Amino acid sequence: MARYALLIQPSANRVYSGASAALTQAELRVFSQSVLDGRIGDVSQAAIGGVRYVTFAADGFGERDAALLANLSSAYALFGVEGGLLRPIELRPLDRFDDDLITIPKYPGKTNEQFTKLLLNVTLLSSAFSRAMLGRSFAVLDPLCGRGTTLSQALMYGFDATGIDLDRKDFDAYSGFIQTWLKRKRVKHHVEQGPLRLGGKAAGRRLRISLAAAKEDYKAGVTQHLELVNADTTRALEFLRAESFDLVVADAPYGVQHGSRRPRAGLERSPLGLLAEAAPVWAGLLRRGGACGIAWNTLVAQRDAAAAILAGAGLDPVDSGPYLAFRHRVDQAIVRDILIAVKP
Ligand SMILES: C[S@@+](CC[C@H](N)C(=O)[O-])C[C@H]1O[C@@H](n2cnc3c(N)ncnc32)[C@H](O)[C@@H]1O
Repeated sequence: MARYALLIQPSANRVYSGASAALTQAELRVFSQSVLDGRIGDVSQAAIGGVRYVTFAADGFGERDAALLANLSSAYALFGVEGGLLRPIELRPLDRFDDDLITIPKYPGKTNEQFTKLLLNVTLLSSAFSRAMLGRSFAVLDPLCGRGTTLSQALMYGFDATGIDLDRKDFDAYSGFIQTWLKRKRVKHHVEQGPLRLGGKAAGRRLRISLAAAKEDYKAGVTQHLELVNADTTRALEFLRAESFDLVVADAPYGVQHGSRRPRAGLERSPLGLLAEAAPVWAGLLRRGGACGIAWNTLVAQRDAAAAILAGAGLDPVDSGPYLAFRHRVDQAIVRDILIAVKP
């Protein structure tokens, strides 16, 4: 069987406090089982010429396989290992825009961009639509979007992105950033914005942008859609259409920078109360076959409890194999994990 060596982005180890190779291995296994027919085996780590690589074996590794793995969240370079030499394999990720769309915003409480991509990838790969990863657009919702890291990653992939956050400062910051960025990059776009009214009362703000990476696409009406709503996520079914999203991807408040907010309970450290109220709403927004992926701090909420809440909302948690290998330490106050659940 042919062997391959994947070089991880040097920044990944800083992000994951040394766990980047283990996380990449888990992500690679999810790619393998969902879109590569389980053809990737013997996933491990090795030092080649004094540099650490994630290595794997695969039969019949072709162009489509390389095009899929080009989107691994920590991929830097991929090589075929041939008689002790490394043969570069060209990686062409889905990326539609310059990467500063994702890297420019810097603020306390930002979900790291590589981790955001990992969560989006694993959620997409767990949906019934995974095999279309390279061939179609996905409708992505981040129902706790903060200043938009997931939204920008979804746009980067050419997908449609919708975000909800209760914090007006976050809404204003992402709204300002994305409009400035689109103008500066001369990306053709159209903006609509205004108040959000629910039950006849002012409830927040709403921003809608249609855009296209290529001018010809914009002219032909082949556009991507970005929507940002400043409102309470537990009311999302009042302002977004049921069963209209393929993927729901959220990084829940860690109880450190951010707390979870529920109108009746106020600010809480654990996200479980918010999750219990929001999960049925998020499940209602997902299409059948769609997937929900959440990240959270396991020091303030147990995995089993989060899985039980998602199951109670009618979603099927995916709790086996590589899905149990994403838990990692971020810092003293945060040990993060991800949980995926699919809408049957
Ligand atoms: C971990 S942060 C998300 C950060 C985001 N991924 C980013 O990179 O900017 C969680 C977010 O949940 C939001 N939040 C908490 N309770 C909420 C609620 N009930 N409705 C909407 N957003 C809420 C907070 O305002 C915070 O921005």
